[in-house]
Order: sequence, then structure tokens, then C-alpha cells
Amino acid sequence: MSGPLLLAIESSCDETGIALVEGGRQILANVVASQVALHAATGGIVPEVAARAHLRWIVPVLDAAWADANVSWSDIDAVAVTYGPGLAGSLLVGLNFAKAVAYVRGKPLVAVNHLDGHVEAAWLADPGNEPGPEPEFPLVALVVSGGHTFLAEMRDHGDYRLLGETIDDAAGEAFDKVGRLLGLGYPGGPAVMRAAGAATGHDVAFPRAWLGDSYDFSFSGVKTAARRIVESARLEAGLPPDGPGAAALPESIVAELAWGFQDAVIDVLARKTARAARAVGARSIVVGGGVAANRVLAERLAAEAADLGLPLYIPRPGLCTDNGAMIGAAGGRRFLAGARAGLDLDARPNLPLAVRPSAAPAAT
Ligand code: KG4
Ligand code: ZN
Repeated sequence: MSGPLLLAIESSCDETGIALVEGGRQILANVVASQVALHAATGGIVPEVAARAHLRWIVPVLDAAWADANVSWSDIDAVAVTYGPGLAGSLLVGLNFAKAVAYVRGKPLVAVNHLDGHVEAAWLADPGNEPGPEPEFPLVALVVSGGHTFLAEMRDHGDYRLLGETIDDAAGEAFDKVGRLLGLGYPGGPAVMRAAGAATGHDVAFPRAWLGDSYDFSFSGVKTAARRIVESARLEAGLPPDGPGAAALPESIVAELAWGFQDAVIDVLARKTARAARAVGARSIVVGGGVAANRVLAERLAAEAADLGLPLYIPRPGLCTDNGAMIGAAGGRRFLAGARAGLDLDARPNLPLAVRPSAAPAAT
């Protein structure tokens, strides 16, 4: 593998990630300090706590990545950093750290959109592995994370056209809320997946929001339905409906409800992705974001992709959830395209990835 070597920094939410990535594909090192245990106590992320934890861990994470990669500063071509979207305080820690490193070492700074990173993770290869075949353009990208859910057509690196997005909750947010409702702890996604895997009954149907022909998503309805279904399951089990989550529900019922919820979310994600791929004449499908770590979603998407005769690219779970390598992947492409940021680069908590074609100027 060759190409520019980037030091990449990610701190947009609750993971402090620093990686060294060559040519937008080859990972030399990828260290993530997770704050999951820290936020489990509050059942969700407290932004101020997250920012302080980034500050505490960013230097040790750099040291660990540096030790793993065995490179010197003269090998580094640029410093890539997430500048949005994300939590303002968290973004600022990584951004200021990246600026300081770039300035002191005299390296160019490359601004990376976190969502571009989730998509570009599909191009990554772990240390010691040769990069595999590349996803072919045009492709359809599905990003499903704790903060975002959208479908985009991607015609080249950095060239996105938004097809649809969530009009309320992100898919991961729904997993987290329903996980809490079922008494499964934080984060809900992996816990709901585990519980659903143990289900023996598959009879509880949760509603699906198809939203007509659009590629938009809505997960607030399924979340509300989950609250209602959990309440009546508690009543039936002789438990108070307003108890602390559903922890006291029998495990078999929790499993069946987790399965029903997960099935509804995955059904909508998979069908809309397949329909979008067909509509835009995609040559491959790429999936990223924390929820893409869900095995059942991966299996369902694989079946849809096989029906369409399209290759499907989903990174391994550790590259689906937030990490520095994905920022190195997107940063490498941006760097090769000539993108350079100034030291006045600011955090953009609401940075979008792309606009809908209807919102873009008409083509002439
Ligand atoms: O991409 P990510 O690490 O952070 C954001 O950019 O938001 O995504 C985190 C989200 C959380 O909502 C978490 O519950 C969800 O991804 N998640 C999963 C699984 N693993 C993580 N959701 C469903 N199944 C999983 N196995
Ligand atoms: Zn993310």
C-alpha cells in the first residue's frame, strides 16, 4: 500500500480515536478510548462529561497509536480531524489538539466530515491485511449511527447526493431508547441485538413507517409503540406499568420484544436501501455507523444485495462504531483531492454531509 500517510483524530461524540492510515485504506494503528462505561452510569451521554474525558485521554491515545504504528513525524503527510457533526465540546477537544499537532510539526490540516468517515470505513484494511476490492461507483451508502440515519448516492469519493434521512430519531437512538425501556442498559444497540438473538417467540409485530415512496426514515413511531407494548406486557405480567424500565419482565418476553423492535427497524432500513440501490443503478452498497455492527442487519442486507446481484460492504464492528481510522480513510481522500484547512477551522456541530438534489441548484 502506498499513498499519503495521515494522522487522524476523532472526538465528535463519546469515543476518543486516533489512527494512522495510509492511502485512505491501510490502517497502521487505530486506538479508541471508549467512554461507554463512563456514560452507562447516567444511561446516556452527558456532553460536559464527554468533553472532559476526551481531554483526559487524547494524549495517551496518541501515544498508544504512535507506539503501534512505528512511524516517525517525517513520515506523516497531514493531520486529519473531525470538525462535525457532533457535540460541540467534544469536537473542540479533537480539533484544537489536531491544530496544535499540525502547527508544531508543520503538517497540513485536513477537515473531515464524520459522516464521510462512516462511509469511507468500507475501504479500510486492518494492519497486516491487504486492502480488498474497492466498492464500485455509483453506490448507495446507508449510514446508521446514534446521531444519524440516511441514504445517499455516492458517485465518487466526496461526491454525495442525499436520497433520504430520518425525520425524527436516528436508528441508533431508537435502539438506545428501547434498550433502556426493556431494562437492558446502555448502549441499547448491542444489548437489544443480544436479547433478540435469544428470542424463541417471534409474534410481536412492531409498526413500520414506510413514509410512502420516500427514502426518508421515521423511528419515533416504533419507539412509542415499544413503550405501549412494554407497558401492556408489564400489566399482563402483574407488574406496575410505570416501573423502572422492564427489568423485572421475564427474560423470554424481553427477548421477544427486543426481536420485534429490531425486526421492524431492520426491515425498513434494508428495504429502503435495496430500493434506492435499484433506483440509482448502484454497482455496490456500502453501510456504516454503529448500527451497522448489528449482525441481523448485516444478514438481511446481504440477502437484499444478493437478490440485486450487488456486492455489499460493511466494515467489521469495530470500524462501524466511531474510530480514528475512518477519519484517516476520508481524510486521505480529501487530502488527495487537494483539501487543506486553515488553523481557523471551526467546529460545525450540525455539519450536513450532502444536500438533496431538490435543494441543490438545478443542473444546466
Ligand atoms: O456510529 P456510532 O458509534 O456513534 C455515532 O456517530 O452516533 O453509533 C453508536 C450507535 C449507538 O446508538 C449504539 O446503540 C448503536 O450505534 N449500536 C448498535 C449496535 N452496536 C452499536 N445498534 C444495533 N446493534 C448493534 N450491534
Ligand atoms: Zn459516528
